[in-house]
Amino acid sequence: MVNKGEIIETSVIAMSGSLRRKSYNTALLRHAALVAPAGMKVELAEIGDFPLFNSDLHDEDGYPEPVARVRRQLLEADGLLLATPEYNRSVSGVLKNAIDWLSTGGDSPLTRKPAAIMGAGGRLGTAQSQGALRIALAHNDVQVLVRPEVLVVNAWTHFDEDMNLTDDRIAEQLRRLLFGLDGQIRLHKSRLQAVVLASSDAILTGLPRLLYEAGYEVTATSDGDWAAAQLESGNVALLVSEPQFVEFGSINELATATGTKLVVTDAVAGFLDQLDGIR
Ligand SMILES: Cc1cc2nc3c(=O)[nH]c(=O)nc-3n(C[C@H](O)[C@H](O)[C@H](O)COP(=O)(O)O)c2cc1C
Repeated sequence: MVNKGEIIETSVIAMSGSLRRKSYNTALLRHAALVAPAGMKVELAEIGDFPLFNSDLHDEDGYPEPVARVRRQLLEADGLLLATPEYNRSVSGVLKNAIDWLSTGGDSPLTRKPAAIMGAGGRLGTAQSQGALRIALAHNDVQVLVRPEVLVVNAWTHFDEDMNLTDDRIAEQLRRLLFGLDGQIRLHKSRLQAVVLASSDAILTGLPRLLYEAGYEVTATSDGDWAAAQLESGNVALLVSEPQFVEFGSINELATATGTKLVVTDAVAGFLDQLDGIR
């Protein structure tokens, strides 16, 4: 229950695609933390100690320690803020490497995370690297804000000796970006997550629409392992499953263990009454 006037806190993990001590992208993130709306905490995550991506390094003991650390940070955070340079018309290797590590596994902390991106570069102002970054993030179901675009052309002309941002127009864009991210996070948090696990087209396409109208944010899948991984992440409020997935799997036990409500159905008709019965 939120009291009138009370500010709900939101937390954002920021990552810079540059390891340089005097990086303009890291300086942009520092400035963003200063202009973040009240109640939003922006924390810079360290990705410079990630090994180069190699799935052999992910063994039975889990991820390499630096990767496991940031996966945990991101899982607990409400949103993601990225700043990328542009190198040879694309996203920096440092940031791409981090995204590759964070994207693996059915329990990727990137999935459905609200995010905002920006970049400080040379003559092109990171237009192409941000385009490449959007493609990689969209592939991982990250919810990236479309506007405002923050493209810092010839980065060195907008900062002073101490790496403070000196350009009011860019500062205003950053403020708007952070407010937009805050709104996206609050919207995301206000909607409960539901997973529809089914193989028939009628259920896969019919039920999500009803669930959206009932106020849920929905993912529909026919992959039982993927659905189980979503439940294990602890973020799913409701699982709607066709009977065969429950009969042959342990997903109903997982639903009980994770406190996820379970509705078993093989028909769209009458579903809302069934849903009302368990609310
Ligand atoms: C190898 C290399 C390639 C670059 N390629 C581009 C480019 O394609 N487009 C661009 O806008 N800037 C390019 N730049 C400029 C960088 O994006 C710019 O120096 C930026 O400030 C680096 O980010 P940082 O200050 O956060 O370290 C390049 C710089 C280097 C060193």
